[in-house]
Amino acid sequence: MHDEAKVKRSTMPKDTGYNDPFHVACIMDGNGRWAQQRGRRRLVGHYVGAQRVRDIVKACPDAGVTHLTIFAFSTENWKRTQSEVGGLMRLFRRYIIHEAKALLEAGVRVRFIGDRIRLEDTLVSLMDELELLTAGNSKLHLTIAINYGGRDEVTRAAQRLAVEIEQGRLTHKDVDAECLARFLDTRFLPDPDLVIRTSGEARISNFLLWQSAYAEYEFIDTLWPDFTPEEFNRVVSRFGKRERRFGGVTA
Ligand code: FPP
Repeated sequence: MHDEAKVKRSTMPKDTGYNDPFHVACIMDGNGRWAQQRGRRRLVGHYVGAQRVRDIVKACPDAGVTHLTIFAFSTENWKRTQSEVGGLMRLFRRYIIHEAKALLEAGVRVRFIGDRIRLEDTLVSLMDELELLTAGNSKLHLTIAINYGGRDEVTRAAQRLAVEIEQGRLTHKDVDAECLARFLDTRFLPDPDLVIRTSGEARISNFLLWQSAYAEYEFIDTLWPDFTPEEFNRVVSRFGKRERRFGGVTA
């Protein structure tokens, strides 16, 4: 990757500890359809989807992926039935409780993005504990987006920035893209290089809107519960073959 281009396209701080980060973000779509095709409840699809999360996390280091960000629950997902929302929240709690040890031992650092205000206290405590527990790891940076929406994130960032200006710690002249990015939930992350969406839908659904300005997109037909590490590796290696110009021209 061309170094100059990399610095110019990114608004993120450069203290992620990686000289050459490779950040893949996943929109894990298709759990509901996967379950319905089998005459099962949608939640079954989410539970199988959680197993795929485990598999893909394991596959990342060998695929050269240093950062993986996954979209687990959007700000729009509250519109689903109470039973699906409740089931997903239970699944997130179970995932944290059951996976914490394996993630710690595998060198994975876990962080969460999204607005925690609407989440139950028990879930938020588990999220905090897992972040703390894995804070010393750096083999893979796993970021889980829960109650996350790109517009909501930029709105919250703008509110925090406005407070800084109101209280005189910043002036409007300090505000540029890099400054705003420091107020985003993703301030500790490099921008995604590749965004993968499963299940055949070609939409970005409010995911990492700011951060994906120069990302490559892969929309693949496979439903998330069928997404294997082998397919993940194929998609990731296709990406390696693409030329990226970040708005410039090839020398
Ligand atoms: C979208 O599929 C998926 C979700 C809203 C939930 C994603 C959650 C998981 C993969 C569960 C595991 C996550 C963690 C972090 C343990 P959909 O339900 O919209 O599928 P559909 O489009 O077929 O209805």
